[in-house]
Amino acid sequence: MASVLEPFDLGPIRLNNRLVMGPMTRARCPTGTPNAIMAEYYAQRASAGLILTEGVWPEINAQGYFSTPGIENDEQTAGWKAVTDAVHARGGKIFMQLMHCGRVGDPVNNGGHQLVAPSAVQADFQILTVGDDGNVQLVRMAMPRALETDEVDGVLDGLERAAVNAKAAGFDGIELHAASGYLPMQFLSTNTNQRDDKWGGTPEKRTRFTIEAMERLFNVFGPERTGIKIAPGILYNDINDAEVEPTYDLLVRKLDAMKPAYLHFQTSLSYQHLNEFSTVASTEGQVEVWHHWPYQFLRDRFTGPIIASGDLTLDLAQKTLDAGMADLFVFGRRYISNPDLFERFKAGADLADPNQMTIYGGAEAGYTDYPAMAG
Ligand SMILES: Cc1cc2nc3c(=O)[nH]c(=O)nc-3n(C[C@H](O)[C@H](O)[C@H](O)COP(=O)(O)O)c2cc1C
Repeated sequence: MASVLEPFDLGPIRLNNRLVMGPMTRARCPTGTPNAIMAEYYAQRASAGLILTEGVWPEINAQGYFSTPGIENDEQTAGWKAVTDAVHARGGKIFMQLMHCGRVGDPVNNGGHQLVAPSAVQADFQILTVGDDGNVQLVRMAMPRALETDEVDGVLDGLERAAVNAKAAGFDGIELHAASGYLPMQFLSTNTNQRDDKWGGTPEKRTRFTIEAMERLFNVFGPERTGIKIAPGILYNDINDAEVEPTYDLLVRKLDAMKPAYLHFQTSLSYQHLNEFSTVASTEGQVEVWHHWPYQFLRDRFTGPIIASGDLTLDLAQKTLDAGMADLFVFGRRYISNPDLFERFKAGADLADPNQMTIYGGAEAGYTDYPAMAG
């Protein structure tokens, strides 16, 4: 029987185990150029089978959150090269997560640019900004403007340019962030995409942006080194999709035919589509995790490697693997405070809890100062 703690061949890439360090925005990058503590942070976690970086913006107007890194220019590319070198030196593998935030953000965070989105629909959601005085405040996200029909190709060009830089920076692969209510998911979802041109109006047209974005990343990394993260039915960032099933049925079937490196998905108990099993799971806590929507839905439609994310433990991950419902397993919050999570799992050691006060922003404290286990 396969073990979560044993190697897995992700296409051409041998992973030392099936643990994935989940993409996590940590806001330690005030200049937009990855710095030395980021290289140290990722290198400390290199015993994960695969590291997925925090969401990285392809161009400045796509930056949603303060202090997050970009991959738009040579300086940023060089900063990331130091990160990939540090991870590779420790035997790890690392993909960049490309994140265009679309309507999620505020001009204070993105160099003063107006937000762009499929439609001019303001998110009913808040975001942290840092003013010139250094004070952090929570504000309602700004009103975006709708992209013109012929502007969308320019956004796709930006994603492809970013992928070229990511390749030059030495990443083993790239992941399109099409989850959590960012730009690709804004195109996918009915409340955020009210277009009637070729980019919206039907599931076919709402999936077009995501599919074309994947094709652009394939141009650079090839399908076997390009993955995608989705979160069907999630409500985060004011997504409210009235056509989840038809849209994701089509999207996932199309993706399956394209044979990307993997399909990565995130579950959450705030899902619209809780079935009877996940309702039981949320009330009783310990029902097998793959009963959460959309595990079966995705497994039925996608034949390649699947990465599951959301509230996993080693035990749940192993059971999910045994059930054939996913191949690789994200640990997000656990990786904040357990840089050597793989070694701790192997040893059956205790896990440390993250300090909630130092999740976002700041520098080394709560970032690179979580120790490996004693001994
Ligand atoms: C601090 C923090 C930042 C996150 N940032 C991102 C991100 O940039 N991109 C992304 O796809 N998911 C992001 N996530 C979601 C995680 O990748 C993961 O899906 C989620 O935490 C569930 O896994 P867990 O229960 O093991 O923490 C973030 C989660 C946390 C806790």
